[in-house]
Amino acid sequence: MSKTSSNNNNTSTADNTTNYQNNSKISNTIKNNVDDNDKSPENSKYENGSTRVTPWEVEGRIDYDRLIEVFGTQPISSEILEQFEKITGEVHPMLNLHYFFSHRDLDFILRKVESGEKIYLYTGRGPSGMIHMGHLMPWMFTKYLQDKFGSKLLFQITDDEKFLYSQDRTREEIKRFTYENILDIISVGFDSDNTKIIVDTKHIKHLYPISLEIAKRITFSTAKAVFGFSASTNIGMIGFPPVQAAPCLLPSLIEGKPTPVLIPAAIDQDPYWRITRDVAEKMGFYKPAQIHSKFLPSLDAPGGKMSSSKPGTAIFTTDEPEVIDKKVSNAFTGGQATVALQRLYGGNALGCPVFWYLRYLFDNQKESDERFVKCISGNLLCGECKSDLAMESKSFIATLKKRREKAKDCIQKYMYENDPFEI
Ligand code: TYM
Repeated sequence: MSKTSSNNNNTSTADNTTNYQNNSKISNTIKNNVDDNDKSPENSKYENGSTRVTPWEVEGRIDYDRLIEVFGTQPISSEILEQFEKITGEVHPMLNLHYFFSHRDLDFILRKVESGEKIYLYTGRGPSGMIHMGHLMPWMFTKYLQDKFGSKLLFQITDDEKFLYSQDRTREEIKRFTYENILDIISVGFDSDNTKIIVDTKHIKHLYPISLEIAKRITFSTAKAVFGFSASTNIGMIGFPPVQAAPCLLPSLIEGKPTPVLIPAAIDQDPYWRITRDVAEKMGFYKPAQIHSKFLPSLDAPGGKMSSSKPGTAIFTTDEPEVIDKKVSNAFTGGQATVALQRLYGGNALGCPVFWYLRYLFDNQKESDERFVKCISGNLLCGECKSDLAMESKSFIATLKKRREKAKDCIQKYMYENDPFEI
């Protein structure tokens, strides 16, 4: 059954089932346990660094409530969900399931949208490898917002950042990943008329003047505190943050007036926006707003996030069906060590990456809540969930692969200033 079993709640099947009769109670339990799940002793060490969330590393079990406190962001409230519903006529599942859980100034953005003012969306990718399902989550949500708000989107590819960060990568390798990643970005389905991909090394002349203005206003002491730079960090990395900050201000220059910008991304990117927000207003721009997601967890271990550099942790958009089968069959789960124990005690759905993949990507909420109850009450075995995940992932990736092929013919349409991009 499971590769490893984790702290299961050893209540009996009957107890578990009776506790979860009511659907809204189930969803709240799941929501609260995602957030409270990791209030384990490891998390109390968050401040002394055993859990790390930086733009380059995500390690350990993440307590998202604590991240909100430490990063000084706001939780997504029921008022915000109502504002969304008023504008879009629905609440997107990634909001409803609290996958997007935190924000900065999202209420301001929604007010602007409601009043008919155009906002820009801005998101990005650091091309350190191929694209996995975790990367796709904020992009799928960005596409949804683009469709609903009719917004223009700037999509930045920080090939400079990844060259500087990855000691062993050559510029040629990074360029190859840039090309491959662009195919994935296009395959998400963004509107080509309203989307511009910026590749830093190619389009730097559009970013450089703004990034200089930003850089001049940020001290090394601030950068060190926000990003954790040390004496051994190369100076390219130290100078890089204003380049990722620049697209936050670019829309105002394009439009010739202060223009609101919303950045959908996982919360690891927040340090960049903290420094940008500090300087934006002083420079006469709106502070960029953010909506932060959680991480799709690593498939092969508890805690941490999927990583391009660790293939076993993630399902990639280029994985063959047999590779997906293998990764899913080797996945860590919240199951008990034997079928008999699973039937007796039930599994730990909340500690199970397979459960979360299915919940965030493939099950609808009702199906997921039912899966939860069946799992914790011992009526579902890990093999069944793995088989569902493998089947859904293979079909999802097969569709994406077809779109990736088609994307090869329309790269230029998506590039900033319709520049060609070839490898
Ligand atoms: P990168 O390439 O590390 O990640 C790209 C996007 O994917 C999110 N992400 C994840 N989301 C869920 N689960 C995961 N396991 C997971 N891993 C990564 C990231 O938060 C990000 O949204 N420096 C950036 C590139 C960048 C950017 C931006 C990102 C430039 N401008 C504006 C977001 C917004 C980077 O290296 O992202």
